[in-house]
Amino acid sequence: MKAKKYVLTEQEMPRQWYNIMADMPSPMEPPLHPGTGQPCGPDDLSPIFPMNLIEQEMSTQAFIDIPEEILDKYAIWRPSPLFRAYSLEKALDTPAKIYYKNEGVSPAGSHKPNTAIAQAYYNKIAGTKKITTETGAGQWGSALSMCCSFFGIECKVFMVKVSYNQKPYRRLMMETWGANCTPSPSNETRAGRSILEKDPDSPGSLGMAISEAVEEAVSADDTKYALGSVLNHVMIHQSVIGLEAVKQMKMAGDYPDVIIGSAGGGSNFAGLAMPFARDKIAGKEIDIIAVEPASCPTLTRGPFAYDFGDTVQMTPLLPMHTLGHNFVPAPIHAGGLRYHGMAPIVSKLVMDGIVRAESVQQMETFEAGLTFARSEGYISAPECNHAVAMTIREALKAKEEGKEKTILFNWSGHGLVDLGAYESYFQGKLSDHDLPQDVIDAALKDIEGLPKPKQTK
Ligand SMILES: Cc1ncc(COP(=O)(O)O)c(C=O)c1O
Repeated sequence: MKAKKYVLTEQEMPRQWYNIMADMPSPMEPPLHPGTGQPCGPDDLSPIFPMNLIEQEMSTQAFIDIPEEILDKYAIWRPSPLFRAYSLEKALDTPAKIYYKNEGVSPAGSHKPNTAIAQAYYNKIAGTKKITTETGAGQWGSALSMCCSFFGIECKVFMVKVSYNQKPYRRLMMETWGANCTPSPSNETRAGRSILEKDPDSPGSLGMAISEAVEEAVSADDTKYALGSVLNHVMIHQSVIGLEAVKQMKMAGDYPDVIIGSAGGGSNFAGLAMPFARDKIAGKEIDIIAVEPASCPTLTRGPFAYDFGDTVQMTPLLPMHTLGHNFVPAPIHAGGLRYHGMAPIVSKLVMDGIVRAESVQQMETFEAGLTFARSEGYISAPECNHAVAMTIREALKAKEEGKEKTILFNWSGHGLVDLGAYESYFQGKLSDHDLPQDVIDAALKDIEGLPKPKQTK
C-alpha cells in the first residue's frame, strides 16, 4: 500500500516558530502612527496589544521558542497531517504530484487556532480580562472564542454582517465557546454608528469590523484587541504549519516545486510558505503562489502603499498591498478573503519577487471544491477552495507541459459550516464578480494623501 498521509508524532512538533523577518533580503518598513505619520514604537501599540505580542511583532529573531502551555494546547490538533492527493491527481490525469497540509483538523475547523491559542496565552499572562476581535466568515472568531475559553478570558466578536446572516452556525460555535458575537456594522460603537448613518444597509467588511473591535478595546484598560491575520506576530505563529510540512515532505522523500495558499490577510499562505521561502531566499527554485479572489484582488491589482488596516482609520498605517481602506468587496462566500489589505510580510515577499500572486473567480473555486470533495473526500471552506482551484490549474498546466511537478498546498479549513454556500452554488445563485478598474481607482483616492513607502519595486 502506498503512503497516503505523513504524520508526525507529538514529540516531533516544532518547538520554535520561524520569523522570516530575520531573513528578508532587505528590512521591512515600519508601521506608522495614524495621527503623526511617524514610525510606531512599542508604546504606540500598547493600548491595543499586550507588550509580549508587540515584542514579537517587532522581532527580527529567526526562531522564537513556543511556550510549553501553547504546545500543550497545540497537541489537541497538531501536528496536522500532510496528505498525498492521489485521487485528485487521478481525477485530473496529471503527472504532477499533489500534497496538501490539512489544517481543517483543529476543533474550530481551520488554521486560525494556531495563532488564536498563542494570542490568548500571551494576553492571559499579561493580565488581559477581555479580548475583542473581528471576523469575516467566522473561522477566526470561532477559533479565538475557543482559545479564550481555554484561558478564562472574555471574548467579544464583531462579525461582518453579510457573513453573520450567511453563516448562523459559526455564531453558534462562538456562543458555545462562551463568546459574544455581534453583527457589524453595529450600533454599539461610534465607528459602527457612523458607518450606518452613511449606509444603513451596509453588508459590512472586515475593515469596518476591525474599527468596531479596536474602539471597544481601547475603551477599557483590561481589554485588548486581537487580529486573526495580517500582522507579523500572526504570521510567526502560523509558521508552525510550514515547519511541520518541511519535515513531512522529507518523510515523503519529496520537495515542492510549487507552493500554493489562499490569501485573505495572508496568514495560512505565509504559515505554509515562509519556511520554504527561506530556502528560496538562499537560492532554491520554488514557485510560491498566493491566491486571492478576483473580486478582492489586493495583491494582483492593488498598489504597495501605506494604508490603514480598518475603515475608520484607527489602526497604524501598514506598508502593504491595498485596495484602500474604504473598499467594500462583493459579498462572495469566501468571507475570510474579503479584506482590502494584505500582510506586510506577504506584500514585501511579493515586492522582492519571492512570492507571486494570482486571482480566481468565485465559480471556478466552487467547481474546484467539488472536484476535490469528489476525489479526496474533504469538503473545503470557500476560502480554501481558492488554493484548490489554483492547484488544479497548476496540475493541468503540468499535464499540458508533460512535467512531473510536485505541488504542495495549504488546505486551510473545512467547509462543513459553509454548506449554505454550496447550496447557493447548486441552486445557481452564485456568480463571478467583475471588478471595474474605476471602482478600484475611486477607492484608492482615499489613500492619496497618506505617506508613501520607500520601496517601489
Ligand atoms: C479557511 C480559511 N482559509 C483562509 C482564510 C484567509 O485568511 P488568511 O489569509 O489569514 O489565512 C480564512 C479566513 O478566515 C479561512 O477561514
